[in-house]
Amino acid sequence: MHLPEALPKAELHLHIEGTLEPELAFALAARNGVELPYAGTEELREAYLFSDLQSFLDLYYELMAVLRTADDFTELADAYLERAARQGVRHAEIFFDPQAHTARGVPIGTVVEGLARALERAEERHGVSTRLIMCFLRDRSAESAMETLRAAEPYLRHIAGVGLDSAEVGNPPSRFAEVYEAAGALGLRKVAHAGEEGPPAYIREALDVLGVERIDHGLRAMEDPELVERLVRDRVPLTLCPLSNVRLRAVDVLEDHPLPAMMAAGLLVTVNSDDPAYFGGYVGDTFHAVHEALGIGPERLRELARNSFLASFLDDDEDRRAR
Ligand code: ADE
Ligand code: ZN
Repeated sequence: MHLPEALPKAELHLHIEGTLEPELAFALAARNGVELPYAGTEELREAYLFSDLQSFLDLYYELMAVLRTADDFTELADAYLERAARQGVRHAEIFFDPQAHTARGVPIGTVVEGLARALERAEERHGVSTRLIMCFLRDRSAESAMETLRAAEPYLRHIAGVGLDSAEVGNPPSRFAEVYEAAGALGLRKVAHAGEEGPPAYIREALDVLGVERIDHGLRAMEDPELVERLVRDRVPLTLCPLSNVRLRAVDVLEDHPLPAMMAAGLLVTVNSDDPAYFGGYVGDTFHAVHEALGIGPERLRELARNSFLASFLDDDEDRRAR
């Protein structure tokens, strides 16, 4: 068998800001005159001990202060795409968090144009096709999400879809019904984080109220057998992130992850890295880790790789070419 890392695959759950490695963070901090409250990369890495999603998000948003210019975003995405290509990624659907940048005074156009420059050249440099998905921060208001969608309108040629991320519990999908409806009317695809820390009811809301075609995480679906039945029947993809679930304490150890049970239940699951600079591995490393810790053998690894293309926004012809 190929090494799990080398299997051609699509990555569908990846926050570009979560690929900010400590070395690049310090280089950008120096370039932009931003002071970081850590003595160096070692001390920063030592801070990567998270107790839950919020404890991670606090650091994740803090470090974004170093991202200021379009070139910074290009450099960030170039670095991710090069690493991803080395780990077998042929197609990447990449999240970004516009509000985390506009709130710091970085215009959305700077972010999108910087990212788009890297994405456009990834095909030629690495043979990796890409899509960009802009996420609304669910711990901010629905009005702020709508303003973000309006601010993104001049850049929609670069944006394939919308997502929903940040602190989940207490911020149900239904709060964002209106902005998802408006996004749909603009021809954007729809996904949302649900069931990472939040209850199965949030997964139902994302499907029924927001009309998403894919659920990001969906880990807690397994608590609700009727929901599992529906997700299986309707072939709703779930973009799982096993290393993230361990680091953010959604599961105690990788050996306890429900991935094998979810595959056995017939769910269309994919394996992704989420925020690889923070969670100890890129997507090829994640394939390797689930192989080792969960005994996912060659056939099921190939199934996961196949699922990643099926669950992607690629059409059938593009899917065949990417594989
Ligand atoms: N933003 C970045 N990573 C996230 C995650 N795992 N859940 C919610 N929001 C996020
Ligand atoms: Zn995520």
